[in-house]
Amino acid sequence: THVVTEACIRCKYTDCVDVCPVDCFREGPNFLVIDPDECIDCAVCIPECPANAIVPEEDVPGNQQSYIKLNADLAKVWPSITKRKDPLPDADEWKDKVGKLDQLIR
Ligand code: F3S
Repeated sequence: THVVTEACIRCKYTDCVDVCPVDCFREGPNFLVIDPDECIDCAVCIPECPANAIVPEEDVPGNQQSYIKLNADLAKVWPSITKRKDPLPDADEWKDKVGKLDQLIR
């Protein structure tokens, strides 16, 4: 599967959802996740993300391993998103910040 990592938090550009052929993105208030049961590893979403938040599971950095389970868990409770929308208002400001996990709204 592919995994949405920390960089998405407080950005949510949503360019990724428009290209997903299997509609595997799920939407929370300030973060998106990929449903690992639906993702077919096509990788077309990777270059679409302005924050470079999406990576193949095997490439998730060591300090972000928790995002693998986070995607799986939140995908079970968050609704599907299949159409791009406006990014969050401060997206460009938050794009390059690290250590954003405490900003995640579930
Ligand atoms: Fe998030 Fe990037 Fe998609 S910021 S909503 S993973 S385009």
